Amino acid sequence: MFNTRRPRRNRKSAAIRAMVKENSVSVNDFIFPLFLIEGTNEKQEIESMPGIYRFSLDLLLEEIKECVELGIKGFCVFPSLGDDKKDKYATEGYNKDGLYIQALRKIKSQFPDIALMTDIAMDPYSSDGHDGIVENGEILNDETLEILGKMALVQAEAGADILGPSDMMDGRVGYIRKVLDEAGYTHVSIMSYTAKYASAFYGPFRDALDSAPKFGDKKTYQMSPANSKEALIEADLDIEEGADMIMVKPALAYLDIIKSLKDNYDVPVTAYNVSGEYAMLKAAAEKGWLDGEKVMMETLLSMKRAGADIILTYFAKEAAKLLKKQ
Ligand code: PBG
Repeated sequence: MFNTRRPRRNRKSAAIRAMVKENSVSVNDFIFPLFLIEGTNEKQEIESMPGIYRFSLDLLLEEIKECVELGIKGFCVFPSLGDDKKDKYATEGYNKDGLYIQALRKIKSQFPDIALMTDIAMDPYSSDGHDGIVENGEILNDETLEILGKMALVQAEAGADILGPSDMMDGRVGYIRKVLDEAGYTHVSIMSYTAKYASAFYGPFRDALDSAPKFGDKKTYQMSPANSKEALIEADLDIEEGADMIMVKPALAYLDIIKSLKDNYDVPVTAYNVSGEYAMLKAAAEKGWLDGEKVMMETLLSMKRAGADIILTYFAKEAAKLLKKQ
């Protein structure tokens, strides 16, 4: 055998493998999604997401402190509200004195150095469980923008650093940017959920928030899993409208979309390693069918290799602990 080129030479020792390593996962890449509930001293594990909890604000602050000590810098908070706080127009979503906005204010005042990200969409506050206003079974686009704008304003005022519109209404990035700029919040960033697919991988998240649609599905606003070119249209629009960062969601079944956005645009690309992806690995690890830590790191690395600059992941804390040990 006379092979001049032998790729195995570059794999022959740990030292050489480390030298030629093209991609890596760092704690700096992570944004940790957190679930907030009312009350004090409350910590409820989400059944389909072992190791992930809904916290009352006092315990959420402790959780953030632990994560900051592990080096995590980005956090994204989602509110989980009782049905009594939900209505047709998601009014709780822009209630300055409501649980979510008060919590953002408190988090930012205790941890001024973190990157605090929010969620903008109607579903946690909507009695219909949809991301937009529902009228006769239709999701209204332009009317929804007004509500999203109000949510953006109170979140910015509470001190959020990055706003994350996750609703997929047309024109929302431009609308929110305009509302923010006119109110003087020119420094507040927008990370748009650019290519958000109508995916079955959001199941555990909807359990966590009790936010599943009351009727129908989200296919008239979230993208079809069959499409990739459409992601470029969404990205063109979001960037034109002022998005600072773009996102692909879910991540694992959509690595090709992450790569495509990374190759075609210069803004940072985020991968949202969603609840179902977390649940899937945890379940297999619990059964002893997979090595949980190894598949976690391999999965996160695959997102970096595909081109993600940032990863929103429920694994953030666990991975940060592991990275610290290495
Ligand atoms: C809703 C929203 C969803 C997620 C983040 N924001 C669910 C949905 O669109 O129904 C899912 C996140 C996850 O599954 O981890 N605006």
